[in-house]
Amino acid sequence: MSGNEVIAEVKNLRTYFHVPEGVVRAVDGVDLVIKPGRTLGVVGESGCGKSVTALSLMRLVPSPGRIEGGEIIYYQSVRETSASSLSDIIDITRLKPNSREIRAIRGNHISMVFQEPMAAMLPVRTVGSQIMEAITLHQNVSHQEARERAIEMLARVNLPNPDRIVDNYPFQLSGGMRQRAVIAMALSCNPHLLIADEPTTALDVTTEAQILDLMRKLQADYNMAIMFITHNLGVIAEMADEVAVMYLGKVVEQTDIRSIFINPLHPYTQALLRSIPQLDDVMTRSGERRQLHTIKGMVPDPYTVLKGCPFHPRCPHFMSEVCDQVVPEVIEAEPDHIVRCHLYAPSPEEAQTRKEAML
Ligand SMILES: Nc1ncnc2c1ncn2[C@@H]1O[C@H](COP(=O)(O)OP(=O)(O)OP(=O)(O)O)[C@@H](O)[C@H]1O
Ligand SMILES: [Mg+2]
Repeated sequence: MSGNEVIAEVKNLRTYFHVPEGVVRAVDGVDLVIKPGRTLGVVGESGCGKSVTALSLMRLVPSPGRIEGGEIIYYQSVRETSASSLSDIIDITRLKPNSREIRAIRGNHISMVFQEPMAAMLPVRTVGSQIMEAITLHQNVSHQEARERAIEMLARVNLPNPDRIVDNYPFQLSGGMRQRAVIAMALSCNPHLLIADEPTTALDVTTEAQILDLMRKLQADYNMAIMFITHNLGVIAEMADEVAVMYLGKVVEQTDIRSIFINPLHPYTQALLRSIPQLDDVMTRSGERRQLHTIKGMVPDPYTVLKGCPFHPRCPHFMSEVCDQVVPEVIEAEPDHIVRCHLYAPSPEEAQTRKEAML
């Protein structure tokens, strides 16, 4: 694929944590494609590896975590920075965690809104000084220019009285205001790719809707790619152009937003969609509570490596001797619709015909 259609491509990424209890295969063969100006939604249950995938892209995986293999290709139109001039195609996994190259990319080309908004800002420093630091790290501007840019960014994210908020400490802001300030900081260097890890999970639905609107607007203004991580399929429906569904460290399905909702192929995606509560599911017309749909079974503990497909113990379409023995390959079951499931594997005859056609 060329850099014109794609801004970043994750290929067979593996990030493991070696802990005394064993090895946590947090990310275990993830493939993703991120396109300029588009939003890739990444969805999956808690612990499936969404945040660790994001942290791998930023080279911020905490110890004892380590990228064990795979590639994170970042395509960029050459862009001068104060730190260095980067080459056009970079494999982020090859950069040293604290190198000049990754520091030139981080915050400037690729920026992240973290899952915990308080973790992104130091409590003891004003909002403005933290945004200004992000600006002066990457851009050759005076203190006064950086301050003006910080105020401009706070105004861009619709914070009232930005010239006062610039001198506030994070604890003086409400949760929704803090999240806007964090987004202002992430966008202050006009990144090509914004990674947003559950940016609205801690907010009430009205504030959430406002922040989502704001992100869409800023995306259109800056033609920025967004990798939007959430466990909320409603938010995915509102934000994403393409969707990757993760289960136990793997992407099990990836396609466009319409196909995911109208024609989900993986049994896990189908189960996730069934578990979105509808009003009728919550209560009967006579006012009795109903049990919500849940996905049967539990996510196994993170140290266990299951043979075959990791979803097989919970899958309603489980095929003995296949699903519990063989890891399913990535299959393009329909055009631009990728799934990792034996249900869509070609029969041996079909596979042979395809092979001959390729020779
Ligand atoms: N610092 C760490 N040390 C050991 N294991 C870790 C560490 N960070 C994450 N993990 C493990 O990696 C796996 C993936 O975690 P990750 O945070 O990516 O999940 P997630 O999909 O973001 O979940 P959530 O929706 O709850 O945020 C989990 O099993 C988690 O326990
Ligand atoms: Mg997470």
